Amino acid sequence: MREVIATRYVTPLREGGSLPGLVEGDDLGTYIMKFTGAGQGRKTLVAEVICGELGRRLGLRVPELVRMQLDPVIGLSEPDQEVQALLKASGGLNLGMDYLPGSLGFDPLAFEVSAREAGRVVWFDALINNVDRSWRNPNLLVWHGELWLIDHGAAMIWHHNWPTAQKASARPYNASDHALATYGPDVAAAAEEFAPRITEDLLTEIAADVPDEWLDGEPGFDSPDELRGAYVRTLLDRARTVSEHITIGEPTKDRPSQAPEWLAGKLPRRAVK
Ligand SMILES: Nc1ncnc2c1ncn2[C@@H]1O[C@H](COP(=O)(O)OP(=O)(O)OP(=O)(O)O)[C@@H](O)[C@H]1O
Ligand SMILES: [Mg+2]
Repeated sequence: MREVIATRYVTPLREGGSLPGLVEGDDLGTYIMKFTGAGQGRKTLVAEVICGELGRRLGLRVPELVRMQLDPVIGLSEPDQEVQALLKASGGLNLGMDYLPGSLGFDPLAFEVSAREAGRVVWFDALINNVDRSWRNPNLLVWHGELWLIDHGAAMIWHHNWPTAQKASARPYNASDHALATYGPDVAAAAEEFAPRITEDLLTEIAADVPDEWLDGEPGFDSPDELRGAYVRTLLDRARTVSEHITIGEPTKDRPSQAPEWLAGKLPRRAVK
């Protein structure tokens, strides 16, 4: 991962629960920044890096992630008290995600996704135990006719309780409410494509991208590297059998599965890659 220095805080994103902000970097890029000082804590950022980089290496589209160095002084002129406090609490390395200008939030009523691609995303989400890609909150963007994956901060829920994390490899994944559940996800094809590629070497390389300062001081671990090893083992274990634990049943009742009658058939769904 590249490292970038934050040069200007542009605006808070009102949509995100963790108050992510739009920030410019010294490389002239624009990033969605997630802060170490946010209530959700640094584990959210660890999950973003490990899952985002893993997804990218598997060939899924994830906007580039960078380590973003923040000097809280750039927030001094920020009028919003909440933002001020957040910036003050977040000096040092934070996470930046390349901003995709003009991207649209994914809407199942507007876009058509192939069974193959849906299967790839569902399998990946099952691997990382991602419950944050439901039709209510897809965390998928459409940009230049392609599907992009964002927001993996709530994945790997097992890292909040390390003593029981090893058991997580057999945890069921109910994808009934997944944003792509209705596209007939071909999970078997995805397993065949992805499972052999999840190796210890690959995961070790990815875990090395997480800055030490987000890993330091975890109870039960003597060093950041020991903790990195725990992430590697847990994901490696899960990758072996994850397809056996995926169920796709009837979606929850209130899922908006159809356009209103007056609109039905009038709007062709646009295929996204
Ligand atoms: N790279 C990006 N490019 C363009 N827009 C983005 C990008 N990342 C996030 N967004 C926008 O910002 C919103 C919030 O981002 P994100 O979901 O990552 O934050 P969050 O705090 O984890 O949100 P929540 O908990 O509400 O899901 C997204 O729904 C999307 O509209
Ligand atoms: Mg989100």
